[in-house]
Amino acid sequence: MNGPAERGAGDQGGDQSVDERYLGFETDPKYEQIATPVARFKYYGATWLITGYDELLRALRDDDTYSSEHDLPTGSTERVGVMTPATAIRAVPTEVDPPDYYFYRRLLGSTFAPSAVRALTPDIRRFTTWCLDRYIGTGQMDLFHDMIALVPGLTTMRLLGLPLEDSLIVAEAVHARGDDRFDLNPAWEVLLERIGQAVEKRRAEPASDLISTLLRPGAGDRVCTDEEIVEICFAVVVGGMSTTAKLVLGALSYFGVHLDERERARQDPEFLAGAIEEFLRYYSPVPFMCRTASTDVHFGVRRIRKGDRVAMGFAAANRDPAVFPRAHEILLDRTPNRHLAMGHGIHSCIGSALGRAETTVMIEEVLRRMPDYRIANEYQPTAEPVRVTWTDRLQRGLVVTFTPGEHSGQDFHVELNRLDRLDRLDGLDGQSPGGRETARDAQP
Ligand code: HEM
Repeated sequence: MNGPAERGAGDQGGDQSVDERYLGFETDPKYEQIATPVARFKYYGATWLITGYDELLRALRDDDTYSSEHDLPTGSTERVGVMTPATAIRAVPTEVDPPDYYFYRRLLGSTFAPSAVRALTPDIRRFTTWCLDRYIGTGQMDLFHDMIALVPGLTTMRLLGLPLEDSLIVAEAVHARGDDRFDLNPAWEVLLERIGQAVEKRRAEPASDLISTLLRPGAGDRVCTDEEIVEICFAVVVGGMSTTAKLVLGALSYFGVHLDERERARQDPEFLAGAIEEFLRYYSPVPFMCRTASTDVHFGVRRIRKGDRVAMGFAAANRDPAVFPRAHEILLDRTPNRHLAMGHGIHSCIGSALGRAETTVMIEEVLRRMPDYRIANEYQPTAEPVRVTWTDRLQRGLVVTFTPGEHSGQDFHVELNRLDRLDRLDGLDGQSPGGRETARDAQP
Protein backbone atom coordinates (compact mmCIF):
# COMPACT_ATOMS: atom_id res chain seq x y z
CA MET A 1 0.00 0.00 0.00
CA ASN A 2 1.32 3.42 -0.83
CA GLY A 3 1.90 5.86 1.98
CA PRO A 4 0.10 9.18 1.80
CA ALA A 5 3.39 11.05 1.48
CA GLU A 6 4.17 9.12 -1.71
CA ARG A 7 0.70 9.83 -3.06
CA GLY A 8 0.86 13.51 -2.33
CA ALA A 9 -2.89 13.29 -1.48
CA GLY A 10 -3.75 16.54 -3.18
CA ASP A 11 -1.67 18.93 -1.08
CA GLN A 12 -2.85 22.44 -1.77
CA GLY A 13 -0.24 24.65 -0.24
CA GLY A 14 -1.23 23.80 3.32
CA ASP A 15 0.86 23.84 6.44
CA GLN A 16 4.07 22.14 5.41
CA SER A 17 5.15 21.70 9.01
CA VAL A 18 2.48 19.01 9.37
CA ASP A 19 3.40 15.83 7.57
CA GLU A 20 0.54 14.06 5.76
CA ARG A 21 1.47 10.95 7.68
CA TYR A 22 0.68 12.73 10.89
CA LEU A 23 -2.93 12.96 9.77
CA GLY A 24 -3.17 9.50 8.29
CA PHE A 25 -5.04 6.55 9.70
CA GLU A 26 -4.59 4.16 6.86
CA THR A 27 -1.48 2.46 8.20
CA ASP A 28 -3.68 0.61 10.67
CA PRO A 29 -3.90 -2.96 9.30
CA LYS A 30 -7.64 -3.07 9.86
CA TYR A 31 -8.02 -0.47 7.13
CA GLU A 32 -5.98 -2.20 4.50
CA GLN A 33 -7.53 -3.64 1.40
CA ILE A 34 -6.13 -7.13 1.39
CA ALA A 35 -5.54 -8.96 -1.91
CA THR A 36 -8.14 -11.62 -1.14
CA PRO A 37 -11.77 -10.56 -0.59
CA VAL A 38 -12.11 -12.93 2.35
CA ALA A 39 -8.97 -12.90 4.44
CA ARG A 40 -7.80 -14.78 7.52
CA PHE A 41 -8.06 -12.47 10.50
CA LYS A 42 -6.94 -13.00 14.07
CA TYR A 43 -8.60 -10.49 16.31
CA TYR A 44 -10.41 -11.38 19.54
CA GLY A 45 -11.70 -14.67 18.32
CA ALA A 46 -12.57 -13.52 14.80
CA THR A 47 -11.40 -15.89 12.09
CA TRP A 48 -12.27 -14.08 8.86
CA LEU A 49 -12.31 -10.53 7.55
CA ILE A 50 -14.47 -9.81 4.51
CA THR A 51 -12.62 -7.07 2.62
CA GLY A 52 -14.12 -7.19 -0.90
CA TYR A 53 -16.91 -4.69 -1.58
CA ASP A 54 -19.22 -7.10 -3.43
CA GLU A 55 -18.55 -9.91 -1.00
CA LEU A 56 -19.33 -7.62 1.92
CA LEU A 57 -22.58 -6.43 0.35
CA ARG A 58 -23.62 -10.05 -0.09
CA ALA A 59 -22.78 -10.94 3.47
CA LEU A 60 -24.52 -7.89 4.96
CA ARG A 61 -27.70 -8.77 3.08
CA ASP A 62 -27.63 -12.32 4.38
CA ASP A 63 -28.52 -12.00 8.05
CA ASP A 64 -29.69 -15.64 8.14
CA THR A 65 -26.16 -16.85 7.52
CA TYR A 66 -24.36 -14.10 9.42
CA SER A 67 -25.95 -13.78 12.83
CA SER A 68 -25.63 -10.65 14.95
CA GLU A 69 -27.26 -12.29 17.97
CA HIS A 70 -25.69 -11.88 21.38
CA ASP A 71 -26.78 -14.67 23.71
CA LEU A 72 -26.30 -13.80 27.32
CA PRO A 73 -24.49 -14.41 29.56
CA THR A 74 -21.50 -13.84 27.30
CA GLY A 75 -19.82 -17.07 26.38
CA SER A 76 -22.84 -19.24 27.15
CA THR A 77 -23.13 -20.04 23.45
CA GLU A 78 -21.04 -19.32 20.39
CA ARG A 79 -23.15 -16.28 19.43
CA VAL A 80 -21.49 -13.35 21.15
CA GLY A 81 -22.80 -10.41 19.15
CA VAL A 82 -21.01 -8.03 16.83
CA MET A 83 -18.40 -6.38 19.02
CA THR A 84 -14.83 -7.42 19.66
CA PRO A 85 -14.18 -8.13 22.45
CA ALA A 86 -17.75 -9.15 23.31
CA THR A 87 -19.43 -6.73 25.71
CA ALA A 88 -20.98 -7.52 29.07
CA ILE A 89 -24.15 -5.71 27.99
CA ARG A 90 -26.00 -6.73 24.85
CA ALA A 91 -26.41 -3.82 22.41
CA VAL A 92 -30.00 -3.66 21.11
CA PRO A 93 -31.04 -3.70 18.25
CA THR A 94 -27.48 -4.17 16.99
CA GLU A 95 -27.08 -7.63 18.50
CA VAL A 96 -30.53 -9.08 17.84
CA ASP A 97 -31.55 -11.15 14.81
CA PRO A 98 -34.96 -11.11 13.13
CA PRO A 99 -37.78 -11.49 13.93
CA ASP A 100 -37.24 -9.87 17.39
CA TYR A 101 -34.97 -7.30 15.77
CA TYR A 102 -37.88 -5.62 13.96
CA PHE A 103 -39.72 -4.86 17.19
CA TYR A 104 -36.82 -2.74 18.45
CA ARG A 105 -35.96 -1.08 15.15
CA ARG A 106 -39.59 0.05 14.76
CA LEU A 107 -39.64 1.39 18.29
CA LEU A 108 -36.58 3.52 17.52
CA GLY A 109 -37.72 4.71 14.10
CA SER A 110 -39.38 8.00 15.06
CA THR A 111 -36.46 9.11 17.26
CA PHE A 112 -33.95 8.85 14.41
CA ALA A 113 -36.20 9.96 11.55
CA PRO A 114 -34.94 12.91 9.47
CA SER A 115 -37.68 15.16 10.91
CA ALA A 116 -36.58 14.33 14.47
CA VAL A 117 -32.96 15.02 13.53
CA ARG A 118 -33.97 18.39 12.06
CA ALA A 119 -35.73 19.22 15.33
CA LEU A 120 -32.59 18.33 17.28
CA THR A 121 -30.23 20.31 15.05
CA PRO A 122 -30.64 23.69 16.84
CA ASP A 123 -29.49 21.95 20.03
CA ILE A 124 -26.48 20.47 18.23
CA ARG A 125 -25.58 23.98 17.07
CA ARG A 126 -26.08 25.39 20.57
CA PHE A 127 -23.75 22.75 22.04
CA THR A 128 -21.13 23.40 19.36
CA THR A 129 -21.37 27.16 19.84
CA TRP A 130 -20.96 26.74 23.57
CA CYS A 131 -17.79 24.68 23.08
CA LEU A 132 -16.32 27.23 20.67
CA ASP A 133 -17.34 30.27 22.75
CA ARG A 134 -15.15 29.02 25.57
CA TYR A 135 -11.99 29.44 23.52
CA ILE A 136 -12.84 31.71 20.61
CA GLY A 137 -11.32 34.74 22.33
CA THR A 138 -8.04 32.97 23.17
CA GLY A 139 -6.83 32.02 19.68
CA GLN A 140 -6.05 28.42 20.67
CA MET A 141 -8.00 25.30 21.56
CA ASP A 142 -7.86 21.53 21.36
CA LEU A 143 -10.66 20.91 18.89
CA PHE A 144 -10.84 17.25 19.80
CA HIS A 145 -11.01 17.42 23.58
CA ASP A 146 -12.88 20.72 23.82
CA MET A 147 -15.48 20.23 21.08
CA ILE A 148 -15.39 17.05 18.99
CA ALA A 149 -15.48 14.69 21.97
CA LEU A 150 -18.15 16.74 23.74
CA VAL A 151 -20.80 17.58 21.16
CA PRO A 152 -21.78 13.94 20.41
CA GLY A 153 -21.90 13.37 24.20
CA LEU A 154 -24.18 16.34 24.78
CA THR A 155 -26.35 15.37 21.81
CA THR A 156 -26.65 11.77 22.93
CA MET A 157 -27.59 12.83 26.46
CA ARG A 158 -30.23 15.20 25.07
CA LEU A 159 -31.60 12.45 22.82
CA LEU A 160 -31.83 9.91 25.62
CA GLY A 161 -33.15 12.39 28.17
CA LEU A 162 -30.18 12.14 30.55
CA PRO A 163 -28.49 15.04 32.37
CA LEU A 164 -26.31 17.12 30.04
CA GLU A 165 -23.96 17.66 32.99
CA ASP A 166 -22.82 14.04 32.66
CA SER A 167 -21.81 14.32 29.02
CA LEU A 168 -18.13 14.42 29.87
CA ILE A 169 -18.43 11.24 31.93
CA VAL A 170 -20.20 9.49 29.08
CA ALA A 171 -17.52 10.74 26.69
CA GLU A 172 -14.93 9.27 29.05
CA ALA A 173 -16.75 5.94 29.08
CA VAL A 174 -16.74 5.77 25.31
CA HIS A 175 -13.41 7.35 24.50
CA ALA A 176 -11.57 5.26 27.12
CA ARG A 177 -8.37 3.99 25.64
CA GLY A 178 -7.58 0.53 24.47
CA ASP A 179 -9.48 -2.62 23.82
CA ASP A 180 -11.27 -2.69 27.16
CA ARG A 181 -13.32 0.33 26.20
CA PHE A 182 -16.66 -1.37 26.65
CA ASP A 183 -15.77 -3.01 29.95
CA LEU A 184 -17.93 -1.67 32.70
CA ASN A 185 -15.48 0.95 33.87
CA PRO A 186 -16.60 3.49 36.53
CA ALA A 187 -17.80 5.91 33.85
CA TRP A 188 -20.14 3.24 32.49
CA GLU A 189 -21.39 2.55 36.01
CA VAL A 190 -22.37 6.21 36.33
CA LEU A 191 -24.15 6.06 32.99
CA LEU A 192 -26.07 2.90 33.94
CA GLU A 193 -27.05 4.49 37.22
CA ARG A 194 -28.29 7.56 35.36
CA ILE A 195 -30.35 5.46 32.96
CA GLY A 196 -31.99 3.68 35.92
CA GLN A 197 -32.84 7.03 37.52
CA ALA A 198 -34.22 8.43 34.26
CA VAL A 199 -36.42 5.35 33.70
CA GLU A 200 -38.00 5.85 37.13
CA LYS A 201 -38.51 9.54 36.52
CA ARG A 202 -39.96 9.18 33.02
CA ARG A 203 -42.30 6.42 34.10
CA ALA A 204 -43.95 8.95 36.40
CA GLU A 205 -43.47 11.95 34.15
CA PRO A 206 -43.02 11.19 30.42
CA ALA A 207 -41.18 13.74 28.27
CA SER A 208 -40.10 13.96 24.64
CA ASP A 209 -36.94 11.88 24.86
CA LEU A 210 -35.89 8.38 23.85
CA ILE A 211 -36.27 6.87 27.31
CA SER A 212 -39.90 8.08 27.44
CA THR A 213 -40.48 6.56 23.97
CA LEU A 214 -39.04 3.24 25.13
CA LEU A 215 -41.44 3.16 28.07
CA ARG A 216 -44.45 3.26 25.74
CA PRO A 217 -45.83 0.02 24.24
CA GLY A 218 -44.38 -0.98 20.89
CA ALA A 219 -45.73 -3.34 18.22
CA GLY A 220 -48.21 -5.91 19.60
CA ASP A 221 -48.50 -3.73 22.70
CA ARG A 222 -45.27 -5.20 24.00
CA VAL A 223 -43.43 -3.01 26.50
CA CYS A 224 -39.65 -3.11 26.90
CA THR A 225 -38.27 -4.39 30.17
CA ASP A 226 -35.91 -2.13 32.14
CA GLU A 227 -33.07 -4.37 31.03
CA GLU A 228 -33.98 -3.90 27.36
CA ILE A 229 -34.09 -0.13 27.85
CA VAL A 230 -30.54 -0.24 29.22
CA GLU A 231 -29.46 -2.40 26.25
CA ILE A 232 -30.92 0.09 23.77
CA CYS A 233 -29.35 3.09 25.51
CA PHE A 234 -26.04 1.21 25.51
CA ALA A 235 -26.25 0.71 21.73
CA VAL A 236 -27.07 4.37 21.16
CA VAL A 237 -24.20 5.58 23.35
CA VAL A 238 -21.68 3.15 21.87
CA GLY A 239 -22.95 3.64 18.33
CA GLY A 240 -23.24 7.39 18.24
CA MET A 241 -20.33 8.97 20.00
CA SER A 242 -16.87 7.82 19.03
CA THR A 243 -18.06 7.22 15.45
CA THR A 244 -19.09 10.82 14.95
CA ALA A 245 -16.07 12.09 16.90
CA LYS A 246 -13.63 10.13 14.73
CA LEU A 247 -15.25 11.40 11.57
CA VAL A 248 -15.05 15.04 12.62
CA LEU A 249 -11.50 14.60 13.90
CA GLY A 250 -10.49 13.19 10.52
CA ALA A 251 -12.29 15.95 8.61
CA LEU A 252 -10.92 18.87 10.63
CA SER A 253 -7.42 17.37 10.55
CA TYR A 254 -7.66 17.20 6.77
CA PHE A 255 -8.99 20.76 6.50
CA GLY A 256 -6.14 21.90 8.75
CA VAL A 257 -3.76 21.11 5.91
CA HIS A 258 -5.82 21.41 2.71
CA LEU A 259 -6.65 25.07 2.86
CA ASP A 260 -8.13 25.59 -0.60
CA GLU A 261 -10.60 22.77 -0.08
CA ARG A 262 -11.37 24.09 3.37
CA GLU A 263 -12.29 27.45 1.91
CA ARG A 264 -14.48 25.80 -0.69
CA ALA A 265 -16.23 23.75 2.00
CA ARG A 266 -16.81 26.94 3.99
CA GLN A 267 -18.54 28.59 1.07
CA ASP A 268 -20.34 25.69 -0.56
CA PRO A 269 -22.67 23.48 1.56
CA GLU A 270 -23.07 20.96 -1.27
CA PHE A 271 -19.34 20.53 -1.57
CA LEU A 272 -19.16 20.05 2.21
CA ALA A 273 -21.92 17.42 2.10
CA GLY A 274 -20.00 15.47 -0.57
CA ALA A 275 -16.76 15.92 1.38
CA ILE A 276 -18.38 14.38 4.47
CA GLU A 277 -19.29 11.28 2.42
CA GLU A 278 -15.67 11.00 1.30
CA PHE A 279 -14.43 11.41 4.87
CA LEU A 280 -16.86 8.66 5.85
CA ARG A 281 -15.46 6.38 3.16
CA TYR A 282 -11.83 7.18 3.81
CA TYR A 283 -11.79 7.27 7.60
CA SER A 284 -14.48 4.59 8.08
CA PRO A 285 -14.94 5.23 11.82
CA VAL A 286 -16.28 1.69 12.27
CA PRO A 287 -13.56 -0.41 10.62
CA PHE A 288 -15.48 -3.66 11.10
CA MET A 289 -18.21 -5.39 13.07
CA CYS A 290 -18.45 -9.13 13.59
CA ARG A 291 -21.07 -11.76 12.89
CA THR A 292 -21.28 -15.46 13.76
CA ALA A 293 -21.71 -17.88 10.85
CA SER A 294 -24.88 -19.91 11.42
CA THR A 295 -23.93 -22.43 8.73
CA ASP A 296 -20.91 -23.40 6.60
CA VAL A 297 -20.25 -20.96 3.73
CA HIS A 298 -17.94 -21.27 0.74
CA PHE A 299 -16.22 -18.16 -0.58
CA GLY A 300 -14.18 -19.48 -3.50
CA VAL A 301 -11.49 -21.59 -1.87
CA ARG A 302 -12.29 -20.27 1.58
CA ARG A 303 -14.54 -22.28 3.83
CA ILE A 304 -16.16 -20.38 6.64
CA ARG A 305 -17.42 -22.91 9.16
CA LYS A 306 -20.55 -22.74 11.25
CA GLY A 307 -19.67 -20.91 14.48
CA ASP A 308 -16.75 -18.95 12.98
CA ARG A 309 -16.58 -15.27 13.83
CA VAL A 310 -16.59 -13.22 10.65
CA ALA A 311 -15.60 -9.54 10.63
CA MET A 312 -17.50 -7.33 8.18
CA GLY A 313 -14.68 -5.12 6.92
CA PHE A 314 -16.41 -1.80 6.20
CA ALA A 315 -13.11 0.10 6.11
CA ALA A 316 -11.34 -2.39 3.85
CA ALA A 317 -14.30 -2.62 1.42
CA ASN A 318 -14.37 1.17 1.30
CA ARG A 319 -10.89 0.95 -0.20
CA ASP A 320 -11.72 -1.74 -2.74
CA PRO A 321 -9.95 -0.49 -5.90
CA ALA A 322 -12.50 -2.27 -8.11
CA VAL A 323 -15.19 0.09 -6.83
CA PHE A 324 -13.26 3.20 -5.77
CA PRO A 325 -10.64 4.46 -8.23
CA ARG A 326 -7.63 5.92 -6.39
CA ALA A 327 -9.15 4.32 -3.31
CA HIS A 328 -6.34 5.40 -0.97
CA GLU A 329 -6.74 9.06 -1.78
CA ILE A 330 -9.20 11.55 -0.40
CA LEU A 331 -11.12 13.00 -3.37
CA LEU A 332 -13.68 15.31 -1.84
CA ASP A 333 -15.82 15.48 -4.97
CA ARG A 334 -15.77 11.72 -5.57
CA THR A 335 -18.89 10.52 -7.44
CA PRO A 336 -20.33 8.00 -7.23
CA ASN A 337 -19.42 7.27 -3.64
CA ARG A 338 -21.42 4.27 -2.49
CA HIS A 339 -19.34 3.66 0.61
CA LEU A 340 -20.34 1.23 3.33
CA ALA A 341 -19.20 3.32 6.30
CA MET A 342 -22.72 3.30 7.76
CA GLY A 343 -23.16 -0.42 7.11
CA HIS A 344 -25.73 -2.03 4.84
CA GLY A 345 -28.72 -4.34 5.20
CA ILE A 346 -31.08 -4.52 8.14
CA HIS A 347 -28.48 -3.40 10.69
CA SER A 348 -27.33 -0.37 8.73
CA CYS A 349 -26.84 2.69 10.90
CA ILE A 350 -30.07 3.99 12.40
CA GLY A 351 -28.24 7.15 13.49
CA SER A 352 -26.90 7.97 10.04
CA ALA A 353 -28.91 11.20 9.64
CA LEU A 354 -28.02 12.29 13.16
CA GLY A 355 -24.32 11.51 12.74
CA ARG A 356 -24.24 13.48 9.49
CA ALA A 357 -26.09 16.41 11.10
CA GLU A 358 -23.66 16.56 14.04
CA THR A 359 -20.70 16.34 11.69
CA THR A 360 -22.03 19.06 9.40
CA VAL A 361 -22.79 21.45 12.24
CA MET A 362 -19.40 21.01 13.92
CA ILE A 363 -17.48 21.51 10.68
CA GLU A 364 -19.66 24.46 9.61
CA GLU A 365 -19.21 26.25 12.91
CA VAL A 366 -15.45 25.74 13.02
CA LEU A 367 -15.02 26.94 9.45
CA ARG A 368 -17.29 29.92 10.07
CA ARG A 369 -15.79 31.06 13.35
CA MET A 370 -12.13 30.17 12.91
CA PRO A 371 -11.65 30.11 9.13
CA ASP A 372 -7.86 30.44 9.38
CA TYR A 373 -7.16 27.74 11.99
CA ARG A 374 -3.83 25.95 11.76
CA ILE A 375 -2.82 22.68 13.38
CA ALA A 376 -0.46 23.38 16.27
CA ASN A 377 0.13 19.99 17.84
CA GLU A 378 3.74 19.42 18.70
CA TYR A 379 4.95 17.21 15.96
CA GLN A 380 8.26 15.47 15.27
CA PRO A 381 8.75 14.49 11.63
CA THR A 382 10.13 10.97 11.24
CA ALA A 383 12.07 9.44 8.38
CA GLU A 384 10.20 6.14 8.60
CA PRO A 385 6.48 5.71 7.96
CA VAL A 386 4.57 5.71 11.24
CA ARG A 387 1.70 3.45 12.16
CA VAL A 388 -1.13 5.74 13.16
CA THR A 389 -4.15 4.23 14.89
CA TRP A 390 -7.32 5.83 16.12
CA THR A 391 -6.08 5.45 19.69
CA ASP A 392 -2.97 7.48 18.80
CA ARG A 393 -5.06 10.14 17.12
CA LEU A 394 -7.61 10.45 19.91
CA GLN A 395 -4.87 10.75 22.52
CA ARG A 396 -3.04 13.34 20.50
CA GLY A 397 -6.13 15.53 20.09
CA LEU A 398 -6.25 18.38 17.59
CA VAL A 399 -4.66 21.54 18.95
CA VAL A 400 -5.25 24.53 16.68
CA THR A 401 -4.41 28.22 16.66
CA PHE A 402 -6.54 30.87 14.94
CA THR A 403 -7.27 34.57 14.90
CA PRO A 404 -9.30 35.23 18.06
CA GLY A 405 -12.97 35.97 17.48
CA GLU A 406 -16.01 37.26 19.33
CA HIS A 407 -18.18 35.34 21.80
CA SER A 408 -21.49 34.44 20.12
CA GLY A 409 -23.55 36.05 22.86
CA GLN A 410 -25.48 32.80 23.31
CA ASP A 411 -26.46 32.21 26.93
CA PHE A 412 -26.58 28.39 26.95
CA HIS A 413 -24.22 26.99 29.55
CA VAL A 414 -23.62 23.61 31.15
CA GLU A 415 -21.45 22.69 34.15
CA LEU A 416 -19.89 19.34 33.39
CA ASN A 417 -19.54 16.70 36.08
CA ARG A 418 -16.20 15.04 36.31
CA LEU A 419 -15.91 11.39 37.21
CA ASP A 420 -13.05 11.58 39.68
CA ARG A 421 -14.89 14.26 41.65
CA LEU A 422 -18.14 12.35 42.07
CA ASP A 423 -18.43 11.42 45.74
CA ARG A 424 -20.61 8.36 45.35
CA LEU A 425 -22.41 6.63 42.55
CA ASP A 426 -25.65 6.73 44.47
CA GLY A 427 -26.97 10.14 45.43
CA LEU A 428 -25.83 11.59 42.14
CA ASP A 429 -28.52 14.22 42.38
CA GLY A 430 -26.84 15.64 45.46
CA GLN A 431 -23.84 16.62 43.39
CA SER A 432 -21.32 18.68 45.31
CA PRO A 433 -20.07 21.84 43.60
CA GLY A 434 -16.55 20.38 43.73
CA GLY A 435 -17.66 17.67 41.33
CA ARG A 436 -18.30 20.09 38.52
CA GLU A 437 -15.62 21.20 36.15
CA THR A 438 -15.27 23.03 32.92
CA ALA A 439 -14.44 21.10 29.80
CA ARG A 440 -10.94 22.55 29.73
CA ASP A 441 -10.24 21.71 33.38
CA ALA A 442 -11.44 18.20 32.81
CA GLN A 443 -9.30 17.59 29.77
CA PRO A 444 -7.24 14.41 30.16
C1 HEM B 1 -20.46 9.12 11.59
C2 HEM B 1 -21.12 8.47 12.38
C3 HEM B 1 -21.50 7.02 12.36
C4 HEM B 1 -20.95 5.92 11.74
C5 HEM B 1 -19.74 5.88 10.83
C6 HEM B 1 -21.75 4.77 12.10
C7 HEM B 1 -21.54 3.48 11.63
C8 HEM B 1 -22.40 2.42 11.86
C9 HEM B 1 -22.28 1.12 11.26
C10 HEM B 1 -21.17 0.68 10.31
C11 HEM B 1 -23.32 0.37 11.70
C12 HEM B 1 -23.63 -1.09 11.30
C13 HEM B 1 -23.13 -2.06 12.32
C14 HEM B 1 -23.32 -3.50 11.90
O1 HEM B 1 -23.68 -3.80 10.77
O2 HEM B 1 -23.06 -4.39 12.76
C15 HEM B 1 -24.09 1.19 12.60
C16 HEM B 1 -25.23 0.78 13.27
C17 HEM B 1 -25.80 1.52 14.29
N1 HEM B 1 -25.54 2.82 14.62
FE1 HEM B 1 -24.23 4.06 13.68
N2 HEM B 1 -22.75 5.19 12.93
C18 HEM B 1 -22.64 6.55 13.12
C19 HEM B 1 -23.46 7.37 13.87
C20 HEM B 1 -24.43 6.92 14.72
C21 HEM B 1 -25.20 7.74 15.62
C22 HEM B 1 -25.08 9.26 15.74
C23 HEM B 1 -26.01 6.89 16.34
C24 HEM B 1 -26.99 7.20 17.43
C25 HEM B 1 -27.00 8.26 18.18
C26 HEM B 1 -25.76 5.55 15.86
C27 HEM B 1 -26.38 4.41 16.32
C28 HEM B 1 -26.32 3.18 15.69
C29 HEM B 1 -27.15 2.04 16.09
C30 HEM B 1 -28.15 1.99 17.25
C31 HEM B 1 -26.83 1.00 15.20
C32 HEM B 1 -27.43 -0.40 15.15
C33 HEM B 1 -28.54 -0.41 14.15
C34 HEM B 1 -29.21 -1.77 14.00
O3 HEM B 1 -28.65 -2.79 14.39
O4 HEM B 1 -30.33 -1.80 13.48
N3 HEM B 1 -24.80 5.60 14.89
N4 HEM B 1 -23.52 2.45 12.67
